[in-house]
Amino acid sequence: MQLISEETKVVLRDDVPHIVKYMGSKRELIPFLIQSINEIYKGEPICDLFAGSSILSGAIGTSVTMYSNDIQEYSSVFAKTYLGNYNWDDHGNLIDELIASATAHVHRVKEAYPHLEFTYDDDLTLEGFNTIEKLQQDLIFFEFNDVAHHLFIKNYSGTYWSYEQCLWIDGLRIAAEKFAGSSIYYPILSSIMFAMSYNAQSTGHFAQYRDASSAETMHSIILYRKKEIVTYFKRKLKEIMMFTGANHLNHQVTALDYRDCLDSIPEKTLVYADPPYSFMHYSRFYHALETLVKYDYPEVQFKGRYRNDRHQSPFCKRSEVKGAFEEMFEKIKGKKAKLVLSYSNTGMIALESLLDIAHKTFGNTYKVMVKDIDYIHSTMGRIKDKSREVTEYLVIANPV
Ligand SMILES: C[S@@+](CC[C@H](N)C(=O)[O-])C[C@H]1O[C@@H](n2cnc3c(N)ncnc32)[C@H](O)[C@@H]1O
Repeated sequence: MQLISEETKVVLRDDVPHIVKYMGSKRELIPFLIQSINEIYKGEPICDLFAGSSILSGAIGTSVTMYSNDIQEYSSVFAKTYLGNYNWDDHGNLIDELIASATAHVHRVKEAYPHLEFTYDDDLTLEGFNTIEKLQQDLIFFEFNDVAHHLFIKNYSGTYWSYEQCLWIDGLRIAAEKFAGSSIYYPILSSIMFAMSYNAQSTGHFAQYRDASSAETMHSIILYRKKEIVTYFKRKLKEIMMFTGANHLNHQVTALDYRDCLDSIPEKTLVYADPPYSFMHYSRFYHALETLVKYDYPEVQFKGRYRNDRHQSPFCKRSEVKGAFEEMFEKIKGKKAKLVLSYSNTGMIALESLLDIAHKTFGNTYKVMVKDIDYIHSTMGRIKDKSREVTEYLVIANPV
């Protein structure tokens, strides 16, 4: 093992406020990951190539210059939240101001459409409940010509969220716009996404919402329908404000394909790569977060109301995954970069094949090592197969 002086160690913060429930998040593995990074770290910038929830930037972004990247734009919002430079003393009334502005929006919409009211009474029958849900779902065909900002009430009422919850999502999203161009824009958007994630009646992602086919499911959905977006929003924004402050490191945040990101980073960066392991495309699971960030009134498809411009990752396709790793390793070698790669024994390609590609690509110019850790992996399902034990690998490639 190399001896490393204190100055060149990555310093870990363990009190990072998390923002969304994210499939494959490395939140629980961060200490193991940082310990492994520290074994080869020499003070270089770190590129989080598939940042996802951007938890790594939260954990180390006050001690290391980060290049955070993910093809999904919401991930760059999380990274900018953790890596931003803030002077919160200048924004003492921020939360009250945002809530006042969102409240004004909610009142405007309610005045414009007083007939749109959907209440979940305690004595609701299953049939009555499903009627209320359907009425909300049908708002996708309603023309909201009298209010400018109506993306969520139109596209998602009665699906992952109720009409009332969608109204507040729209309201807070519009309130955030006043801060576009300033670093505090990102914590505001992240706090809305936190509220969306923890108030959704689905299982923490947006691949599909649940239907009520029994009284039990109905009651479970009603619990989510009654949650208040604004309460969750407030709580998270306060937490982020407590966690963040001045940060003068020269971080870069991008929303690029991993190949373009690798082309853009400086030579000798340390790259942490955590690509998707399974056939499930993140763009389908988290389309609603992308839409919140873009707020672009996309055409939506299928029951799950997905955006139709969803990214198809080569790491999620058996026919492309090998080539995707070859390109990754080639580009890392071209940059004389260090690589720490996370993968799992349940991935699209076996560890032996992955190592074979690594050895062929890096040749004798790199030393390639493997570490593993047993880990209970959340599959984000609600009941069956909620978690399963997997072995997570770190493949470490270090130029010799
Ligand atoms: C396993 S997750 C990363 C999880 C992350 N390390 C965390 O702790 O939250 C994989 C990520 O790869 C991203 N991704 C998939 N294909 C990509 C591509 N071609 N280029 C860049 N990012 C991609 C997905 O959007 C997803 O966020």
